[in-house]
Amino acid sequence: MRVLIHIDNLEKWRAALTKRLPEADIVTSSDPEEHRRHADYLAVWKPPSWLFENQPGLKGIVNLGAGVDALLATPKLPENVPIVKLRDAGMAPPMADYVLYGVLHFQRDFDRYLGDESEQRWQPREIVEKSDWPVGVLGLGAIGSQVAKRLAESGFPVHGWSRSPKSLKNVTCHHGEVGLEDILKQVRTLVTLLPDTPQTRGLINAERLALLPRGATLINPGRGALVDETALLEALGNSEQEGHLRGALLDVFETEPLPEDSPLWRHPRVRLTPHMSAPTPFEAAADQVVEAIHSWEAGETLATVDRRSGY
Ligand code: OXD
Repeated sequence: MRVLIHIDNLEKWRAALTKRLPEADIVTSSDPEEHRRHADYLAVWKPPSWLFENQPGLKGIVNLGAGVDALLATPKLPENVPIVKLRDAGMAPPMADYVLYGVLHFQRDFDRYLGDESEQRWQPREIVEKSDWPVGVLGLGAIGSQVAKRLAESGFPVHGWSRSPKSLKNVTCHHGEVGLEDILKQVRTLVTLLPDTPQTRGLINAERLALLPRGATLINPGRGALVDETALLEALGNSEQEGHLRGALLDVFETEPLPEDSPLWRHPRVRLTPHMSAPTPFEAAADQVVEAIHSWEAGETLATVDRRSGY
């Protein structure tokens, strides 16, 4: 059995899979072509399209991340090979930490205090109660539902939104277009954790940003394509004048790495991080790759990615 890997830290992955699958020939995208052709399985993150050349016998592809947008957009991706993505391989707790940090950043006025600090202004502010700070979480999959749960446990009223109806303890769940409008109209922080699909691309556009209450904030640790960056900048206003939105914490962008000339780098009310909110825990991810390969080898028809829905 041959397993071909493509991701940043190739040698670490080669060692982990060799240890877990001693019977297999583990090869990487940096190996010569004659060694990597005719693989049985691929374990990949953002693969180049040439990786799929000379692979007539593929039996399964494991996407080494939770989002499959990059994989599904790869030209030459073979059509009938089942795809498995990493389930929440331990990504939900760091994601929930990131989002909670972001919500507190705005609810406890750290954004305002940063400005005060730079002008040596001593100005304690009255705390807005958590119960008066509704948060909306768009996307209630494996990760989004854990984020919503953590926010609710921390005392925030939480509204969740998903494509189809869901129910989660202590979270007011909405769905569909009307449900989205309902959420947008009432939350002080909006968190976007949807997958990047043709339906979600550009979902948070100028019109929907305008539905948020004045002074609302946005946290996007999901996918850059969910938010129209031009509309966001417009809604944030400029250094002289706060716009409709008070601020944003962004971890993902339409183009990554974020281009040096993006105005987001310099916007006074944008805090940004380099797609670090929830890195994939390595050991758990390697275990999931092996689990998928064992299921395929045992003849199971495992495919956790629905190509038509795009996630
Ligand atoms: C993922 C990511 O999809 O890291 O796993 O963005």
